[in-house]
Amino acid sequence: MADWSPQTWRDFPAAQQPDWPDEAALAGALDELRAVPPLVFAGEARSLTEALGDAVDGRAFVLQAGDCAESFDAFSANDIRDKLKVILQMAVVLTYGSGVPTVKIGRIAGQFAKPRSSPTEARDGVVLPSFRGDMVNDFAFDATARRPDPTRLVRAYHQSASTLNLLRAFAKGGFADLSRVHAWNLEFLDASIEGRRYEALATEIDRALRFMAACGIDLDAEHQLHQVDFYTSHEALILGYEEALTRLDSLTDQWYDCSAHLLWIGERTHQLDGAHVEFHSGIENPVGVKLGPSTTPEEVLALCERLNPGRRPGRLTLVSRMGAECVTDRLPPLLRAARDHDHPVLWICDPMHGNTFHHESGFKTRDFDDVMRELRGFFVACDDAGVWPGGVHVELTGDDVTECLGGSAGVAGDDLEQRYESECDPRLNARQSLDLAFQTAELLRR
Ligand code: PEP
Ligand code: CO
Repeated sequence: MADWSPQTWRDFPAAQQPDWPDEAALAGALDELRAVPPLVFAGEARSLTEALGDAVDGRAFVLQAGDCAESFDAFSANDIRDKLKVILQMAVVLTYGSGVPTVKIGRIAGQFAKPRSSPTEARDGVVLPSFRGDMVNDFAFDATARRPDPTRLVRAYHQSASTLNLLRAFAKGGFADLSRVHAWNLEFLDASIEGRRYEALATEIDRALRFMAACGIDLDAEHQLHQVDFYTSHEALILGYEEALTRLDSLTDQWYDCSAHLLWIGERTHQLDGAHVEFHSGIENPVGVKLGPSTTPEEVLALCERLNPGRRPGRLTLVSRMGAECVTDRLPPLLRAARDHDHPVLWICDPMHGNTFHHESGFKTRDFDDVMRELRGFFVACDDAGVWPGGVHVELTGDDVTECLGGSAGVAGDDLEQRYESECDPRLNARQSLDLAFQTAELLRR
């Protein structure tokens, strides 16, 4: 790492960066960001690495979840609270089912930038820059809105800070106390199959807690019962932003990207000779890489060597997002390559991004059956390779949206227009999310 610094990515080709029209304004925004306080601390990132290390060899399971893209408009305490509720519910279901701790990581407090398949978007003959996330430009289809605006980088930082502030309060301030396990059930879930199934499980947990208390265990003294560790993550796409928030840890003299605990490299930016791999190779945070169906075993090995040459468990998470059709063929050679070269990779499955399609109504959607099919394929592939299926990575919301098809609520094609609120990819609603957690818990039990 002798030659690495937070700026060295600038010597490599950087895919998916906006064309900032005003260089001076960009420099001003980045100067401002270089001076702001860090969002997370190096010690917290190290704790996450340790927790992920446990998940490499089957002593934990990871739940990474949240929006495809956070938005400046849909920003409220209720929205954050409801997302956290669903994640806590899913974590309880997974922990109860698997018997191992669930490492909880949000796609939140920084998930504001999106890679796009095309740099421009055309509508009725008008061509404008594509929407790249609220950190860069505005979703509305007009020339001013789509102009990349660096003041948005600063606004994204401030929104991340207030989101994280609330998350920390929820995680440590009583809201996440296991005695409130019933209270996490969202009202509109009450009457649903998943809601009732969750209630039954929450009642069993209550009973277990009372049993332990009756045995003389002082539950008040067990702090794990009263608070949770909740970590943040996002795709570290806009490298100027990430560079500005990268700080030298005074304890270890190492560089940490203090914009989130875990940063990941997307499927479109993991070129071995590219700027994103260069940047992530030098930060000490735990890092992830999304891998699509065209990934080769050689690439996996090269990524492992580049991003985790010291073979530290928990440092590198590979996120398989093959699609339900491809997972059975494409994943096993990758699992075997890392395994045979003794790379301690944490393998988790993103069953969303390989299963996106355009419905005839025009909406971008995903079918819950495809999502579950990919997850099952992932579990089988891991099992065959003797590798622990380390976690799931999903896009969800605590709301009752209609963005993904299927699930027991039976969201149909005609329903998509009712509550389609995502500005980017379609998310699982709260019922579909709980359903996924129950089914994943069953896969883990087997
Ligand atoms: C995402 O996670 O929203 C995303 C764009 O994923 P991928 O890089 O896997 O396509
Ligand atoms: Co997405």
